Amino acid sequence: MTDNSQADRSDVKVRRIDRHPILPIPERAGVSFSWKGRPFRALRGETIASALFANGVRIFGHHAKDGAAQGIFCANGQCAQCLVLADGRPVKSCMELVRPGLRVEPVDGLPGLPAVDRSEKVSADFRPIETIRVPVLIIGGGPAGLSAAVELGRRGIETLILDDKHRLGGKLVLQTHRFFGSIDAVYAGTRGIDIATRLEAEVRSLPSVRIWLQSAALAVFSDGCVGVLADGQRYVHVLPELLLNAAGAREKNLAFPGNTLPGVYGAGAFQTLVNRDLVKPAARLFVVGGGNVGLIAAYHALQAGITVAGLIEVMPECGGYKVHRDKLARLGVPIHTSHTILSANGDDAVESVTIARVNECFEPVPGTARSFACDTILIAVGLDPISEFTEKAREFELPVFAAGDAEEIAEASAAIFSGKIRGLEVARALGHDVGGISEDWHRTAEILKSKPGKTAGESVPAQEEGVFPVLHCSQEIPCDPCTAVCPNKLIDIDAEDIRRLPVFLAGKEGKACSGCERCVAVCPGLAITMVDYRKDAAFPTVSVPFEFPRETLSPGDEVDVIDTEGGTLGRVEVAAVKAIKANDRTVIVKVRAPREYAKKIAGLRLQPEAEGEPLARYVERTDDDTIVCRCERVTAGDIRTLVRQGSRDINEIKAVTRACMGPCGAKTCTPLIHRIFREEGVPESEIVDQPKRPLFLEVPLGVFAGLDAEGDDDATG
Ligand code: FES
Repeated sequence: MTDNSQADRSDVKVRRIDRHPILPIPERAGVSFSWKGRPFRALRGETIASALFANGVRIFGHHAKDGAAQGIFCANGQCAQCLVLADGRPVKSCMELVRPGLRVEPVDGLPGLPAVDRSEKVSADFRPIETIRVPVLIIGGGPAGLSAAVELGRRGIETLILDDKHRLGGKLVLQTHRFFGSIDAVYAGTRGIDIATRLEAEVRSLPSVRIWLQSAALAVFSDGCVGVLADGQRYVHVLPELLLNAAGAREKNLAFPGNTLPGVYGAGAFQTLVNRDLVKPAARLFVVGGGNVGLIAAYHALQAGITVAGLIEVMPECGGYKVHRDKLARLGVPIHTSHTILSANGDDAVESVTIARVNECFEPVPGTARSFACDTILIAVGLDPISEFTEKAREFELPVFAAGDAEEIAEASAAIFSGKIRGLEVARALGHDVGGISEDWHRTAEILKSKPGKTAGESVPAQEEGVFPVLHCSQEIPCDPCTAVCPNKLIDIDAEDIRRLPVFLAGKEGKACSGCERCVAVCPGLAITMVDYRKDAAFPTVSVPFEFPRETLSPGDEVDVIDTEGGTLGRVEVAAVKAIKANDRTVIVKVRAPREYAKKIAGLRLQPEAEGEPLARYVERTDDDTIVCRCERVTAGDIRTLVRQGSRDINEIKAVTRACMGPCGAKTCTPLIHRIFREEGVPESEIVDQPKRPLFLEVPLGVFAGLDAEGDDDATG
């Protein structure tokens, strides 16, 4: 086993992000803690996991069953891979903050129970469990929960909102990019981090809304009570008249050899480390999944100064927005469509990835495997709604609503709007007059949820005089900020359906483009440039949006200019770099380029085009060695054997193999077990699922007795 706590301490600085084009780098006081008895430094307010990463540690222990190295996977409290001992108690390091003097140790094998002083008389007087009645309980303080709370709070409805993190905002606090969607309905054109700040400020200004942070819903019971672990230590029963589940989504796992190596993370985990905690967890990253989550996470890595060695997508086209895909291609990220991951390779942590082309049945094509060096692999293969609270409430016939990803996976802009609608529906269900929720609202909600539509060929305007924008936006997606910022209203999208492509209305009502560049700066897809022939028609100036530190480029530098798809058009000189407050951290780089291709310029290359030399060797293992249940280290082979012997009941598989019995509560392995059934030709109708029983999160037993609230040391069970 590698003891990576020996990491070079002089490396600590480079594992933190000390400049970022969008995120401020706050001054934070230092905190001393220890890891394996060695003194380490963290920053105040940082989780143990992030502090360990910043100090060069990414192996947090070794599994009791086979000694496999353990690190983070979800960074969201859902998987329990990140367990460490903090002052002797097992805690999820991604959820627990560092405290001054904290002694942190790895969990090597099973954590032992704390020593009991038998001479001491143990009190059997458990404190009674407090019950709190509230008209509305919202589980989740992300985009949907906050939007719903705003609507309820504006009507003076007593509402309690729970969130298991240390701050409100959910995934919005990880999003540095400007949002798509409608300016009127969901703050389109504003960065996710800023939407979170606005929503939080509004919710906090509403006196009827109470906020409990670090507070997780554990279960919904048949008497209508919701069991809550409040402030991370008090067990409370909340009895709402109405429950709104806005708990969001959890990331899907993927089964492949090496999938549990430290260095294989969910994309959300990576964004949490990079964008929330400003830690640089990787030097060279590989992304699996070309949906919006994978594409955006890769972009965020580039913004944090991390090399992106490649991105694969199993389908012939990336499923996310084309503008996100194009941004990456222009920045030099190799995108391999119709490819799958064969393995993550390394002894104790990721050292490389092996990928292969797939045929039309999504099977690897023999002879096409290639390996690439990387230290981190992001898994971004989709999300599953956190629906257990809704399902239990429905089972017990309790009044419940769901909003955002907990209801249906879609973009965060859709979650904001669905939260708003559900907030009004909840208010109405409580007898408040909220007026009609119009058909238009429901139509807007459907539009915001819609998948990318048709892609048209890019049309470059014929004009070669004056100044005008070139819209490199060729796929139908719900997005309209460019129409609102043009002072002359020269960019238009069908008002009935903002998924239509924008058009530039040259000379509309005698008005001409003034070259203000507002559309260039506001476009969330960085898909608008401006070409100006006024000074030199043979060598026009092209304004290109750029979301990287202003110092990256200076006038006089030479830069490769790229077309929409990532093809190099030429190498030109930077004429000016404009970083003004009105552009909200989007830098505009002006280059002068030959008229032959000036209008085709869509971006600037950041990272060298080279993919890196494929590695000659990769670790080859059979699929049956792949870990399906990461908590109990159960392989695909163990489960496949039972399925072939006739098992159709997951309870039976659970009893024989211990799959689904680990601390994550079967959240990560159940979909993978279903996949094995599918691979073996077993129809879904024959599969018997295990019942979902509370608690949905593991909790130290002493909490239920009220011991932890007093700070007792022996409350962990
Ligand atoms: S990594 Fe901490 S719970 Fe998943």
